[in-house]
Amino acid sequence: MKASATRRIQPSLTPWRRWGTARLIAMALLTMATTAAGASAVKVGMIVPMSGPFAAYGKQIVNGAKLYLQQDGQDGTCDVELLIRDDTGIAPDLSKRLARELIVNDKVDVLAGFGLTPSAFAVAPLATQARTPMVIMNAATSSITTKSPYIVRVSQTLPQVTAPVAEWAARNDIQSVYTVVADYGPGHDAEKQFTKTFTEGGGTIVGGVRTPVSSPDFSSYLQRAKDAKPDAVFLFVPSGEQGVAFLKGFKDRGLAEQGIALIATGDLTDEDVLDSMGQPAEGVISSFHYSDVHDSPENDAYTQAYRQTYNDERPNFMSVAGYDGMHLICQAQDKTQGDMSGDTFMDAVKGMQWTSPRGPVEIDPETRDIIQTIYMRQVERVGDELHNVEFDKKERFRDPGKE
Ligand code: PHB
Repeated sequence: MKASATRRIQPSLTPWRRWGTARLIAMALLTMATTAAGASAVKVGMIVPMSGPFAAYGKQIVNGAKLYLQQDGQDGTCDVELLIRDDTGIAPDLSKRLARELIVNDKVDVLAGFGLTPSAFAVAPLATQARTPMVIMNAATSSITTKSPYIVRVSQTLPQVTAPVAEWAARNDIQSVYTVVADYGPGHDAEKQFTKTFTEGGGTIVGGVRTPVSSPDFSSYLQRAKDAKPDAVFLFVPSGEQGVAFLKGFKDRGLAEQGIALIATGDLTDEDVLDSMGQPAEGVISSFHYSDVHDSPENDAYTQAYRQTYNDERPNFMSVAGYDGMHLICQAQDKTQGDMSGDTFMDAVKGMQWTSPRGPVEIDPETRDIIQTIYMRQVERVGDELHNVEFDKKERFRDPGKE
């Protein structure tokens, strides 16, 4: 039985004497079957933002995870019970409390999810103490995997998705850049990697600013960037509404008209918000590991199934991490024949390889981070939608943040 949690049957409280013999027998058989399935089901506790300003992260991650289990249910052998908990965004104490409850009360085998870096940092010590594997499905500060030997990441790191666009800029006539990054782990990683790769390629950083991670007002930062007269602005903000606001300001304040290009990690042009950005997004260059128009049979099947299952919504990189994270958990379950103890699970995932909708991926046995292709993309209008159209790639690219 697959994805059993959603189908588990609750015992009825109806007095037994009202039941006919046949019904009692059927009930007993069902209970036996359910108990047997329950004994081997892997309990996965997912901690993700399902409400608040980052609610879209939880939606995409959970959608991807459930889609994997639904597809596996058709022909696979994976038996997973998902327990989903809402940590509301940047609330590390809450993430920690939820993780403790999942470990102690619900006795989960695996923790998963983690939309934002502060939540992953907060839970890492618990994973170590309890020897519970933690599968990171978004949080992207490079050092997260160093915080516990029980952490494995299936998403991306900021240095990994930043270095290619920095290299591209230095090679494509961009001589000076002003950096704008969110003022927390992933933003600091992006700023550091961009500066390193771009200056090594001959470019100059003419200034930079770190913006508040919650509800920033970009107007003064945009003015400062404009006044610095760079060839381009490099941007990292957590994906979602912040990027939409930044792009609007970039256009309204005339940076594009002044000939300043906008380059970014693909967090900016995430498919979940890309269409709402409209015309100002057209032409934006980014590097990233997933585009919903990535050309492969696996991605065609994935995007089609996602849109069919979820009301024609577009999948983004977070949904793919949820999908791949579940693939990794199911493969580990298979490899260990259901022994999900922390050390056995971690041994099973080190070096694991598979073909994701994003392309070929593997888990670096040294760092437990993902090795994957990073694509250069440009936003183009295809039909009535905006898309990140890939035009170059770096294959088997490791996180340079670990160097
Ligand atoms: C993070 O907090 O690590 C994070 C959040 C959103 C992103 C990327 C990284 O788009």
